[in-house]
Amino acid sequence: MKKTLWTAALAAGFLGIAPAAQAGSDCDPGKDGAALTFEEAQTVYDCIADGLHKGYMKGKKRWIPEEYVSDYRNWTIANTLPANPGFHGGRFLLTWVNAAGAEEYLKYKDEDVHIPAGTVIAKESFAVTEKGKVKKGPLFIMEKVAAGKSPETDDWYYMMVAPNGAPQAVPVIKACSECHQGNFGHQGGLGYPAEDVRIPQ
Ligand code: HEC
Repeated sequence: MKKTLWTAALAAGFLGIAPAAQAGSDCDPGKDGAALTFEEAQTVYDCIADGLHKGYMKGKKRWIPEEYVSDYRNWTIANTLPANPGFHGGRFLLTWVNAAGAEEYLKYKDEDVHIPAGTVIAKESFAVTEKGKVKKGPLFIMEKVAAGKSPETDDWYYMMVAPNGAPQAVPVIKACSECHQGNFGHQGGLGYPAEDVRIPQ
């Protein structure tokens, strides 16, 4: 039984089809996350992708607009492959931007960035431990709100959904904004995907 499942997962991987709602263990690369190549990270992602999104979708999102979570995979993707830039808890990250902000975001400008209000950016995450086990990570969301609505965060709202779909009440100034503004304030608070995996406009 185990072997059949494994073979099915492998075959599906070759075809580029993610098997439905995989338990993490079937998708484990068995290799330290820090040593994975981009392609190996992609294979892990293909395996968990369906289950990851199903998890985010579970239950009520309360203060987080439901459609951000249900729709973001239809937005413009900004990475070719999941990359682990060492931030966000050493997780592999994949980023999507909605229509309002895609054009400006995909320029990856390091100054003079004008992200319009109404821009929403969603970032999926997963981790691979030293022992080579996959762990699903949260969905991170940033929304650019109207000028002056949240001056202490440069008018970004930060949101987070746990892998089981629960919205997370995080202290966003300390947990999100200080790093984004402190490190990337000169480029609109945006960290952008690792350079190797950016999709140019
Ligand atoms: C320690 C610094 C740090 C903290 C804390 C942090 N981020 Fe990020 N964030 C980054 C970096 C670096 C990137 C770009 C990395 C990448 O996409 O590969 C990023 C990217 C993002 C993006 C994609 C938009 C962009 O900036 O390119 C979103 C959305 C996001 N973070 C949300 C959050 C949320 C929500 C929190 C709080 C729960 C948070 N971040 C906390 C460093 C941080």
